[in-house]
Amino acid sequence: MSVKKIAVLTSGGDAPGMNACIRAVYLAARHEGIEVIGYQHGYNGLLKQDYVEFTHKDIRNLIQRGGTVLFSARCEKFRKEEHRQKAADHLSELGVDGLIVIGGDGSFKGAELLQQLWDKPVIGVPGTIDNDIAGTDYTIGYHTAIQTAVESIDKVRDTADAFERVFIVEVMGREAGFIALNSAIAAGADHVVLPETFESAGDEIVKILDKLDQRRKNHANSSHIVVITENLWPGGLDILRDSLQTETGLETRVLTIGHVQRGGSPVWQDRILASKLGAYAVEMVVNDERGLMAGIRHRYPEAVPLENSREDLKPLNHYSISMLDKMTLLD
Ligand code: F6P
Repeated sequence: MSVKKIAVLTSGGDAPGMNACIRAVYLAARHEGIEVIGYQHGYNGLLKQDYVEFTHKDIRNLIQRGGTVLFSARCEKFRKEEHRQKAADHLSELGVDGLIVIGGDGSFKGAELLQQLWDKPVIGVPGTIDNDIAGTDYTIGYHTAIQTAVESIDKVRDTADAFERVFIVEVMGREAGFIALNSAIAAGADHVVLPETFESAGDEIVKILDKLDQRRKNHANSSHIVVITENLWPGGLDILRDSLQTETGLETRVLTIGHVQRGGSPVWQDRILASKLGAYAVEMVVNDERGLMAGIRHRYPEAVPLENSREDLKPLNHYSISMLDKMTLLD
């Protein structure tokens, strides 16, 4: 198959490094003499034929920019086959030879279903701060989100120390604990609450109090930081705050880092990952490979069937979890 035109779109929660990936797709494609168009607002652009024709000017100084110049969206309509069929027809009408979807779990489901209706390659590139895509060691944006969370926790540690307070810090991740676990390790947090190991609020409070007690016994005048994944604590974090305050007698505060984790200039790990995966996705289209994701394994790109990228197939690193338990000074 001779490839003349590739389309790219960004979909779902934006992630730092998506722009670096768009740039890589453009540069790698131009290298082969292939034209690149970008659909705007995720799959919505595909349904409305809302696209831009990229030129060199568009990708200048793009590698360092957060967000996505193509805008992003979650597209409800794409759940219906009639709309996906329309998208497939639009791609054919425009003479597109391959579609690259930069996004997360939900976006890949859409890509997988679209591939069933369209006879040209649809390739996914994992772009989400959550890192909850199986078949790839990392997703684009994850390292930057951790960096942002760590910087925030470091700052909170200063004020927590000054008042000898307990801080509960909520990080993003949807239903996955990757950001929580690794930001907790990197910021020297005292405890982390993860969806993957959470059993019940009662059990978890016992574990948190045990950790705080150990620390207080050995280090009077200290602060305590508990990192927790969003959407996890039954009834919300104010309930956890009140319980910890009552049980410890220590002033307890909640910090929700929130969408700040999705923004900012990508760190070097995300820029390099985005560049490798963008270039590899173009290779896959040129080689007429279909229904695949461009993942990264041990620093090298690898083709993975989209159906193997589902979130529930990716476990947390158990060594990291057990190691964090040993990071409390006992004497
Ligand atoms: O998937 C990325 C993510 O930032 C999750 O971590 C978070 O749960 C969700 O998106 C937030 O979505 P929204 O921006 O729609 O509130």
